[in-house]
Amino acid sequence: MEKRLKDHSYVLPEAVDSSKFKTCNQIAFYRRQKLLHPGESTYRALLDTFTTSKHGAEVQIINEENKVPLLVQIFGFEGSIIRVKINELKPLKPRYEVPDVLVKEPITQRMKMVRKEENGICLASDNGACEIHITVKPFQIDITSQGETVLSINSLGLLFFEHLRPQPASRVTCKRKEKKSTDSNKSVQDDLGLWEEKFQTFVDVKANGPSSVGLDFRFHGYEHFYGIPEHADTLQLRTTSDDPYRLYNLDVFAYQLWSRMGLYGSVPLLLAHKPVQTIGLFWFNASETLVDISTTAAVKYSQSILSPGQRKERIVPQTDVRWMSESGIIDAFVLLGPSPLAVFKQYAQLTGIPALPPLFSLGYHQCRWNYEDEADVKQVDAGFDEHDIPYDVIWLDIEHTESKCYFTWDKQRFPNPKEMQTHLQEKKRKLYLFREKHTQTPPTHTIHTQGGEASICHQHQGMNFESSCIYIGPSSYLDFTHPEAREWYAGQFSFDKYQGSSEILFVWNDMNEPSVFLGPELTMQKDLVHRGGWEHREVHNLYGFYQQMATADGLLLRSKGKERPFVLSRAFFAGSQRYGAVWTGDNVANWDYLRISTPMLLTISLCGISFCGADVGGFYQDPDPELLVRWYQAGAYQPFFRGHACSGTKRREPWLLGEENMCVIREAIRERYELLPYWYTLFYRAHVFAEPVMRPIWVEFPDEITTFGIDHEYFLGNALLVHPVTDAGVTTVDVFLPGSDEIWYNIRTFKRHEGAQTLCVPVSIESIPVFQRGGSIVPRKTRVCRSTEWMKDIPYVLHVALDFKGSAVGELFLDDGHSFDYQAENKFIHKRFSFNNNTLSSSSADRREHFQTSCEVEEVLIMGFEAAPSSVTVQNSGEKEAAVRFNYDAGTSVLTLENLCVNVGTEWTIKIHRNK
Ligand code: NOJ
Repeated sequence: MEKRLKDHSYVLPEAVDSSKFKTCNQIAFYRRQKLLHPGESTYRALLDTFTTSKHGAEVQIINEENKVPLLVQIFGFEGSIIRVKINELKPLKPRYEVPDVLVKEPITQRMKMVRKEENGICLASDNGACEIHITVKPFQIDITSQGETVLSINSLGLLFFEHLRPQPASRVTCKRKEKKSTDSNKSVQDDLGLWEEKFQTFVDVKANGPSSVGLDFRFHGYEHFYGIPEHADTLQLRTTSDDPYRLYNLDVFAYQLWSRMGLYGSVPLLLAHKPVQTIGLFWFNASETLVDISTTAAVKYSQSILSPGQRKERIVPQTDVRWMSESGIIDAFVLLGPSPLAVFKQYAQLTGIPALPPLFSLGYHQCRWNYEDEADVKQVDAGFDEHDIPYDVIWLDIEHTESKCYFTWDKQRFPNPKEMQTHLQEKKRKLYLFREKHTQTPPTHTIHTQGGEASICHQHQGMNFESSCIYIGPSSYLDFTHPEAREWYAGQFSFDKYQGSSEILFVWNDMNEPSVFLGPELTMQKDLVHRGGWEHREVHNLYGFYQQMATADGLLLRSKGKERPFVLSRAFFAGSQRYGAVWTGDNVANWDYLRISTPMLLTISLCGISFCGADVGGFYQDPDPELLVRWYQAGAYQPFFRGHACSGTKRREPWLLGEENMCVIREAIRERYELLPYWYTLFYRAHVFAEPVMRPIWVEFPDEITTFGIDHEYFLGNALLVHPVTDAGVTTVDVFLPGSDEIWYNIRTFKRHEGAQTLCVPVSIESIPVFQRGGSIVPRKTRVCRSTEWMKDIPYVLHVALDFKGSAVGELFLDDGHSFDYQAENKFIHKRFSFNNNTLSSSSADRREHFQTSCEVEEVLIMGFEAAPSSVTVQNSGEKEAAVRFNYDAGTSVLTLENLCVNVGTEWTIKIHRNK
């Protein structure tokens, strides 16, 4: 990434240096996979090997050319999930199967053969979700639901499975003899990268030879696809025409936009959507993966109802998705939906639900590479108070350490870290520290020596792997795939080991793709060895996931299991949602990067990781004030809200931008804090029901085709529609309001608009276009304080937006905001609010709730209320009815109920009486 100049000033490249990264044609396994063309399948199913059991069904298939048999296993799981696993029947040695990502082995259902078919057999699982047809020659699987084929596997015949094989004698001799061989056989091998692959000056020696796997999936009737982060690209995936989406975690500084190159994280989950049905495909492989997508039109025939005997012709789209991974096995989960929310649940059933974040982490985070010293930290902290801007966390980057050794403090700059933390703690704020994955090589750093040799990544020859990453000299890389290494690392966070740390100190995992400055594509070479002798190529996309897991475990351990951890990680994989948040890495301070943050975050959210954000302001380069203001406004409505800036950029704390801009930024941050009860409830719903917090419009309007491509506007939960301003100098924005039977309310003016239209909304520098959906109730706080903790007892205001029928529903979850007592002791409040027939009531949404708070609902604001009431009364459970003060604004049709003073934990009813 950067070159070191002197102590901490760096020369940064202007933009991504693409020459450091491979194009797909420089990837040998891709070239090999692409040698197999559609229609050339050589696989035949051996029906006499077919068996079923209570765990599923299996059948062998054989490659007619090389005669290597593969075992195909098919499982049906609870909740409409089908798993298809393909591995060598007798591999030379075990092939890598991804551990630790599935939360538990899913419960299988019995599979039974339903009937023999012309060229195969038909199976069904007990869950009855679908039928599975296996065709013998060429081998193919079709999944049908309600008589329609939803998905076909290997229909293009692109199953390509490189079996493990001994190294050919010619190659062994060749290697022994000399490097510059003229042997033509060898050059062909080199070109295909079977045993060795070169990229620039790097040579990847493949001890196991070629081991890639690939398969095609045909989605019948589908043309809208989403998922497979992380790419700086549109929300809706595009036809790739031989420029596939790459899933390979890489440190790409100032990444190229609208591109399919692999970035920091990978989630191999693809969503296919059409009106009436959404399905998912989870390709469970952690090695480098490429995905080709191609949509075509197909002719489908069905019986005409009007004239029986005649066939009706329909043109429908179909999309072929070809997955290719460098190693491992084929392990694909088909999530049959049928709704988007059902697919999210099915995926969470496999990889886990998002952790419930501590409340403070939903506030605003102030970060910079770097806050120089304790005085700087205190000054920035004081700046927020002085300008009355709320914030929760100040972050320190790498320079807080002693010679870039983690778990240490630079004694010159941070001589009294404990005192600095006490200072922040008194302000009810937190400190966040940078932490990487590598350690300085001994004897300089104790981590390395204490961690033990087994915990370090090795070279094939058994030597420790050493390289360098962010500005420290030769370093070793912890092997986070090793449970003992993780355990050891987690132990380092205990207060007695980590000197100068306290319970308000949290940790950030950076550069954990892993980034290796001297490695191929700035990462670890694939032939390094991890625990159990597995090569790095097998586990590459899992490395960051494991570090985040170990860090979260460490924070949990440190509090003896009492406090909910929160860890931010740059690299991620399927399942990372269990350990904290992720961010989109080193973006740039320009409008395009602000714009792309929406589709990037939507894609990550669709793939289970709700807690995600992009550096506000743009990490690299200096934003002009308008851009910075707009970025704060957008960030206030994105899940993880952190301002961050690169070393060498100008300081940009909000008050440095002049009074006017500062006021607008302050308003945006305050808006965030007012809305925290809603954010927290959404995160609870993500935690329990796996619903993405930030979601594309099509998720809420799955039948409205016009919404399928929208990626500059989105929903927070199901109630708020957000359209951030992402263009310079604009005075209007076009906001699409979906739904012909919907009403939308501008959250600032309360003006009411009908759905199914594009609204031209005038904007000033203060505007953040946000609309509340008619029929929803959004809980907010009435006042904003210095940080989330100061706001614990601030009363609530409920914003009720009425729909066409004059009704609305909503909910609120709250607990202590930091512990696990909500789980262990049901110490939470979960209320359901509903407005019907002029009556608003609060009732329990979960009978287990059991939490005391003195916090009250002080105010209710009802939008779309047609006429002034004659009186309003409130009845608190078991108490007498009391009159309520109200105010009706005929101009905006807003009825405000004031001074309510009902405890948020109780059940109550408010009646609005109208003159007959
Ligand atoms: C790269 C990270 O993406 C960035 O956020 C951080 O500030 C730098 N590393 C320095 O630690």
